[in-house]
Amino acid sequence: MAKHIAAKVMDIPPGERLSVEVQGRKIVIFNVAGEYFGLRDACPHMGGLLSEGVVIGLVEADRPGCYSYSRGGEIVRCPWHGWEFDLRTGKSRFDPNRWKTHSYDIEVGDVQQLEVETVDVTTEGEFVIVNL
Ligand code: FES
Repeated sequence: MAKHIAAKVMDIPPGERLSVEVQGRKIVIFNVAGEYFGLRDACPHMGGLLSEGVVIGLVEADRPGCYSYSRGGEIVRCPWHGWEFDLRTGKSRFDPNRWKTHSYDIEVGDVQQLEVETVDVTTEGEFVIVNL
């Protein structure tokens, strides 16, 4: 797995997202309260840009009129037709085993981490890194 610098940490504050291109792939990186998630920036339905979607939480109901809300900021809604995707997995909410967008492993690290992969660098990271 190769590591690629995608952005500086300061470019994606909590609650924000950034669309980047890495090795010819369009990827949108979301920062959810300091956790980073990367998805292919194209909806599997008809290609809507997930980077332009509204980020919401999960609304579930065990029975009519009894709703619960959880996982705020972890679901993105495609701006074209409203399909919703889990930022953690890329899976759709309505048919997670059939419809999903590719998710990428995202980490925060330093440039030294890229140059000397066998050395474990534990300094506080400055860059958002995509693992392809
Ligand atoms: S293109 Fe995303 S829901 Fe249709």
